[in-house]
Amino acid sequence: MPKRVQLVGLCRIGLAQGTYLDVLRPPDSLRRLGTDHLDVLYTHWQTPDLSIFPLEETVEAMMKLKEQGKIRAIGASNTTAEFIRGYCKYGQLDVIQEKYSLLTRRIEKQLLPTCKELGVSIQAYSPLEQGLLTGKVTMDTTYPEGSTRNTNPCFQPARRAQAIRLLDSWSDLCEKYHCTKAQLVIALTARMIPGLHVLCGARTPEQVIDNAGALHIALEGADAVQMKWDVDAIS
Ligand SMILES: NC(=O)c1ccc[n+]([C@@H]2O[C@H](COP(=O)([O-])OP(=O)(O)OC[C@H]3O[C@@H](n4cnc5c(N)ncnc54)[C@H](OP(=O)(O)O)[C@@H]3O)[C@@H](O)[C@H]2O)c1
Repeated sequence: MPKRVQLVGLCRIGLAQGTYLDVLRPPDSLRRLGTDHLDVLYTHWQTPDLSIFPLEETVEAMMKLKEQGKIRAIGASNTTAEFIRGYCKYGQLDVIQEKYSLLTRRIEKQLLPTCKELGVSIQAYSPLEQGLLTGKVTMDTTYPEGSTRNTNPCFQPARRAQAIRLLDSWSDLCEKYHCTKAQLVIALTARMIPGLHVLCGARTPEQVIDNAGALHIALEGADAVQMKWDVDAIS
């Protein structure tokens, strides 16, 4: 895998807010990363107080980096329709990064219409619902104290049971497509929203290889429709 894909494909700034200078700082680290540009620079969370951190200043700084060729795309994560409009009003927004999986579909109603209207791409994070949608989680699986899975609503018993039943019902499709459940889920997720970018997490090289294998799955139309109905039925 090329070094830049491993290290600097995406970078994020700020946990809650960013000033103009905070935004300009990341490219100083480009030298240390051994690259001259980032593919996407995201604001990780949007400011809770625009009077202290005006959006126009944040966007202006990101536009400057893009004009300088230090970033190729401007991104915003964990955002709202109002923020998306704000980015586009003061400059540009190329892509948003939001939580999206077959079990967590709120962006379809909350953000997708605005993104379509303004030509903003969507990147889905946690598409495997933190591992729940890989088929390896059972009703007895537990996580250490402090794990975010313990507070993820999808890991609570009723929703977890629905997810397990959903994946079990797709076992024949895994056989048909010679794929793992994670691969089937990724392939369907990518079809749920036209043009969606799917950002899978992985803890091991084997998981990376497994997830990348989803690229080779071409779901037949009828299967994709049936699976989407299955997902709708538990949404
Ligand atoms: N913008 C944001 O606020 C935000 C928030 C969260 C995440 N993200 C980004 O989104 C990326 C993905 O998020 P995520 O980690 O929650 O994604 P995810 O794809 O829903 O879950 C990834 C986890 O599932 C398990 N897994 C992955 N592939 C597997 C496979 N093939 N078979 C079995 N288990 C597998 C691994 O955990 P175990 O091995 O421990 O089970 C892995 O850490 C992260 O890397 C992060 O950079 C962004």
